Amino acid sequence: MKVAVVGATGMVGEVMLKVLAERNFPITELIPVASERSVGKTITYKGNDYSVVGLETAVSMKPEIALFSAGGDTSVEWAPKFAEAGTTVVDNSSAWRMDPTKKLVVPEINANVLTKEDKIIANPNCSTIQLVMALNPLHEKYNMKRVVVSTYQSVSGTGVKAVRQLENEIAGVEGEMAYPYPIGRNALPHCDVFLDNGYTKEEMKLAREPQKIMGDRTFSISATAVRIPTAGGHSESVNVEFENDFDLADVRQLLSNTPGVIVQDDLENNSYPMPIYAHDKDEVFVGRIRRDETQPNTLNMWIVADNLRKGAATNTIQIAEYLVENNLV
Ligand SMILES: NC(=O)c1ccc[n+]([C@@H]2O[C@H](COP(=O)([O-])OP(=O)(O)OC[C@H]3O[C@@H](n4cnc5c(N)ncnc54)[C@H](OP(=O)(O)O)[C@@H]3O)[C@@H](O)[C@H]2O)c1
Repeated sequence: MKVAVVGATGMVGEVMLKVLAERNFPITELIPVASERSVGKTITYKGNDYSVVGLETAVSMKPEIALFSAGGDTSVEWAPKFAEAGTTVVDNSSAWRMDPTKKLVVPEINANVLTKEDKIIANPNCSTIQLVMALNPLHEKYNMKRVVVSTYQSVSGTGVKAVRQLENEIAGVEGEMAYPYPIGRNALPHCDVFLDNGYTKEEMKLAREPQKIMGDRTFSISATAVRIPTAGGHSESVNVEFENDFDLADVRQLLSNTPGVIVQDDLENNSYPMPIYAHDKDEVFVGRIRRDETQPNTLNMWIVADNLRKGAATNTIQIAEYLVENNLV
């Protein structure tokens, strides 16, 4: 399998290479791709050196699969060119997620929608992926009506520039700003751009993407997305109102039985999900599971995952694995 990694020099791209190697993805030829600035740079994969190439060159090499994480503009312009050349693109940007002609996939939930004809497949937003991993099994049993989610998102979700801003602030060094304000010792209720309705684009991704992934528009989601000075790992405070009443022990059991989800909820031992614990892990961690005592059939929980792994690279590679295993490329 000839595989291009577009955005190989970026935060997600680097983790993508690591996860491809860890999972022994069947690569016969790796094509690392980045902007013209990086062409000729060397990246190492499984102990071998590879030269970074530009997009034009990569298309002409006709890879079977291209894993994209190079921003929305690059995806809009280049994913169709790869697709025309016969390559199947799995894209991490928000460019294609809500396009009705493109599939939006979390493999544990809806990989079965994929066919050979899907040449551009969208990977959901990082905060969406960890949310639906926990919501889907509960929705199947108790029927969700409404979800209120507040996120506590790490700077690595913005990319290298934001990680550098935080590091500079900690070191007391002046440097380029990824955010309009300092992020150290701060919390910014501002992830991605503001839209006409007063929400941010990130908040609207959280509101809309789960309905598409779960193939169900009967529930609604209201979101507030906040950037905090953690280096990696997104956290979410989630309030879910169900149609039907639930049993807390059963909720824990359902989540524990869900592949890719780990229940970490032992209050006596102060055990609950945290970004430092979820770091570099593929699972979604759920804890602080409790009944909302202010209204019936309502649950509170706390969800944490590594945004660069299950939130981006791992989910993308799981999609690619499904394509290979089911002869869809
Ligand atoms: N960070 C996350 O948690 C996360 C999660 C899910 C999805 N995503 C999405 O993944 C994408 C990348 O995010 P990131 O955090 O990895 O960003 P990043 O660290 O800033 O890396 C961006 C990558 O894209 C490449 N690139 C930029 N402009 C390009 C162009 N015109 N042509 C070709 N390559 C270009 C960069 O190459 P150079 O090094 O040459 O500049 C670099 O490899 C974004 O679309 C983001 O929304 C990120």
